[in-house]
Amino acid sequence: PEASSLKGVRVLLTAGPTREPLDPVRFLGNRSSGRMGYALAESLADLGARVVLVSGPTALTGPSVDELVRVETALEMHAAVMSRVVDCDLFVATAAVADYRPERAAEGKIKKSSEELTLRLVRNPDILSEVAASTPAPFTVGFAAETDRVADYALGKLRDKRLDMIAANLVGAERGGFERDENALSVYWSDGSRDLPMMNKTRLAAELAALIAERYRERHVA
Ligand code: C5P
Repeated sequence: PEASSLKGVRVLLTAGPTREPLDPVRFLGNRSSGRMGYALAESLADLGARVVLVSGPTALTGPSVDELVRVETALEMHAAVMSRVVDCDLFVATAAVADYRPERAAEGKIKKSSEELTLRLVRNPDILSEVAASTPAPFTVGFAAETDRVADYALGKLRDKRLDMIAANLVGAERGGFERDENALSVYWSDGSRDLPMMNKTRLAAELAALIAERYRERHVA
């Protein structure tokens, strides 16, 4: 098989944002479109992987993967991932998971009665960290969207979350990041790194998938 093949490799991938309900009609969300994750899911499938995609709400049509699991909240995404992690060889976390959720969603619509409203938020589980800490852990790939000091934070997350690879991008800049068609990534692993320059997200996904396959195979096939 060619160097980049993922034939028979079982991939679990998260994508998109999560929505954390405040009441029946409102939620806390974020600007993730899911585009990078969906493109990466397709690129990994193109390399022969069996891909299960766990997706938060997006406006995208489902990519051609083996299974698509739709979720809304971080807790739902967590449950969907943890119940499937024993059956995967490679876990890729592209989802923009909310770090916090409202402590409880109001049963009825919150009314505008007082001048101030305080929301109490509680931490969501870190899905990627939990997967990386599970035994046996799959090969884990994380993402880091940073507004500054990209390399520092990415390398910190690689180490702290005990990941095999991390793909970092700069958000809030002139080009790339959320809600854009193009992006650039700096990819780090324990003893190496590679810069993937600004390009459209479909091509970038293909290049990242090839790089993931290369590192995965070095670990598992060599
Ligand atoms: O720590 P930070 O949220 O920046 O880490 C980003 C990485 O962790 C991404 O790969 C993201 O998908 C993953 N993540 C997760 N669960 C969370 C928060 C982040 O899987 N609750």
